[in-house]
Amino acid sequence: MINRRLFVQGLSAATLVAKSAGSLAEAFAGKPMRLGIIGPGSRGKELVRSFLRVPGVKIVAAADVYEPRFAELNQVCGYTVEPHKDYRALVDRKDLDAVVVSTPLSFHAEHVLAALRAGHSVYGEKTMAFTVKESEEIVRTVDGGKQIFQVGHQYRYAPWIRAAIEKVQQGEIGDVTHVFGYWHRNSDWRRPVPQPSLERLINWRLYNQYSLGLLAELASHHIDIANWVFGEKPETAMATGSVVEYHDGRENDDNVQAILGYSKGRRFVFSSMTNNAKMGDQLWIYGTKGSVNLTLQDAVFFYEPRHAEKLPANATVTEKGITTGASYRSGGEMPYRGPGKKLEIAVAEDPTATACRSFVECLRTGAKPIADVHVGLGSALGVIVGNESIKEKRELKISSTV
Ligand SMILES: NC(=O)c1ccc[n+]([C@@H]2O[C@H](COP(=O)([O-])OP(=O)(O)OC[C@H]3O[C@@H](n4cnc5c(N)ncnc54)[C@H](O)[C@@H]3O)[C@@H](O)[C@H]2O)c1
Repeated sequence: MINRRLFVQGLSAATLVAKSAGSLAEAFAGKPMRLGIIGPGSRGKELVRSFLRVPGVKIVAAADVYEPRFAELNQVCGYTVEPHKDYRALVDRKDLDAVVVSTPLSFHAEHVLAALRAGHSVYGEKTMAFTVKESEEIVRTVDGGKQIFQVGHQYRYAPWIRAAIEKVQQGEIGDVTHVFGYWHRNSDWRRPVPQPSLERLINWRLYNQYSLGLLAELASHHIDIANWVFGEKPETAMATGSVVEYHDGRENDDNVQAILGYSKGRRFVFSSMTNNAKMGDQLWIYGTKGSVNLTLQDAVFFYEPRHAEKLPANATVTEKGITTGASYRSGGEMPYRGPGKKLEIAVAEDPTATACRSFVECLRTGAKPIADVHVGLGSALGVIVGNESIKEKRELKISSTV
């Protein structure tokens, strides 16, 4: 069942439940959408693939500082997209319905703001911007204008995550006090470089001039989900990190741990490591009555035991010949390894495809995107102040003027 709020926010039945290309084409016949893209690299081409699945969409212009990208993009599109060496030539075009920005993080604000100021609607990749000031400038520009702005937090469009969070908000697992995010991988994040002079352009994620590291690239998605669950932006950030495995000249940490504080003492706790993938990418939402495990594919609920065996505070417990206070019972504190209750959801399509489809629908109908500029701001604040906390080695307050 799709409620009215979702529809108004641009996630109507047509986008939430992937319709056949034919029926969508019928619905939007005669309304072609012409998009330009700044930075058609790895993510940019993925976005283009998703946009091209939406009937009526054409990629007509691209801007990039790295020439080989144009041929790669033409191959994805199956036709020639007009290339621009300078992004300003692209934003000056009058024949675009929207601009997609998928450049490295340090360029997001420059490219997004230039496009918005030229009057274009924008799909801007996450993390929304590199600094708090830039993020606030994007918010002010979007709030003060008529352009549609959607940020690349595509998990807002994942049906199993939407359904799980709706249940959580209805009280399914009691009061939620903690969200734990793990994003663990076993790979060094390096990309092959055709010649040494291109190292920073290709491997920008490793350098702090362009990137805010693992918090920006991975935690940003989890922070967004924590903000969604808690219904607010984080108030404090405390983070740390180090290079523990890949001593290859990189500036950004290869493992990071972070704690964001929310009102009423609630916490988001994040860990990323890049030399052991056991935990993978998963989130846990912990409430007083249960927990939810969210992954890239599913949502599974677990429920707390009923505390039927609660002992008086002064009782003693004897286990294997050892007598302890009632607070310690090894059996009761073993992690539960049994199956949980999986949320049954028909997964229609990849969340990025839904996010792109939804953006086009917002362009066509004027609806406000779900992953709007304030969603972008909330996650960016956690990422940016988290990184400042790593540098300053202390907990910092998060504040914003918008
Ligand atoms: N939402 C998601 O799940 C998701 C996934 C992956 C990446 N991303 C985001 O997408 C963005 C791009 O990541 P990527 O992996 O595609 O990087 P990439 O290096 O593969 O692509 C970036 C492109 O921008 C171009 N570029 C660099 N500087 C430029 C400039 N000044 N002007 C014009 N073009 C410039 C590069 O040549 C390259 O083609 C990042 O912000 C990243 O965080 C989001």
